[in-house]
Amino acid sequence: MDINSPFVRETTLDGSSTYKNLEYNETYHSSIGAYTEALYKHVLACKLDELANSSLAETSVEPAILSFPVIRILDVCFGLAYNSGVAIQKIWEINPAQRIEIIGLENDAAIIAELPNIEVPEDYLFIRDSIMKPLAEQAKKLLVASGRGAVHQDDEKVESEVLQPSTIGELNLLTENLNMRILINDARNAVTEIEDDYFDAIFFDPFSPKTCPVLWTEEFIAAVVSKAKPKAYISTYSSARIAKDSFSKAGCELFEGPKLNRRNGGVLARKKSLAVSTLLPKP
Ligand SMILES: C[S@@+](CC[C@H](N)C(=O)[O-])C[C@H]1O[C@@H](n2cnc3c(N)ncnc32)[C@H](O)[C@@H]1O
Repeated sequence: MDINSPFVRETTLDGSSTYKNLEYNETYHSSIGAYTEALYKHVLACKLDELANSSLAETSVEPAILSFPVIRILDVCFGLAYNSGVAIQKIWEINPAQRIEIIGLENDAAIIAELPNIEVPEDYLFIRDSIMKPLAEQAKKLLVASGRGAVHQDDEKVESEVLQPSTIGELNLLTENLNMRILINDARNAVTEIEDDYFDAIFFDPFSPKTCPVLWTEEFIAAVVSKAKPKAYISTYSSARIAKDSFSKAGCELFEGPKLNRRNGGVLARKKSLAVSTLLPKP
């Protein structure tokens, strides 16, 4: 690891790698497993398997995918990309022809540059090497262009007098069935660039409310919620009061996500549908 790098790699209980961020003094995932968390707390919690299945059911009747020509996902705090990566893996296991669009929000290109270095389950290697590696290459170029050195000791380092506090840019991957855009910026700025009522699932995965309170405010969470389609789930791992309050004030009904090794499951949110009475014209 480069001396400038603020993170250290660790192995979680399912064998997948996570990192400890030394600035936040927090790991990117819990010890139960980076891959496991992504699968249960985000991908399955948002019912993306059901969505892919419903799409598939329609394809057997019609040649075109009718209900979900594209599954759209917003990945808030993209980090090591497990949430997006496992979503792609699981959706394509069910329907390899399913088109997927992902917008990722992340302010640290350096963590994305680490993606080829993570240890992952064997059946996830394809995602790491074919999808995440090209994004990592773009992240490295962005870091170099903005005057920040590469982050891994095997990489060619670029000396820089000034370490830029932040790098702004965009990473892109476009294939026949996958369109990924990762906006490298503070998520509070990037979220304003995105269309409302657009996503079928939102993964909300900042560091904890204690260490990263700016991403758990009512204001930011309301902005994120406004991007969800009415039936879309928004997954988090946190059961903190601020998480419950912020999603509730943003007009969501709250559910409990999977507990895994914790006492409480994280907040799982969905926009409240308007009551029929509020839709009727006033007498
Ligand atoms: C818990 S980690 C995300 C883990 C990730 N979802 C994954 O599956 O690997 C939190 C991420 O939030 C990013 N982050 C912190 N503050 C941010 C901000 N203001 N805007 C955007 N991203 C931020 C960190 O760089 C880190 O990658």
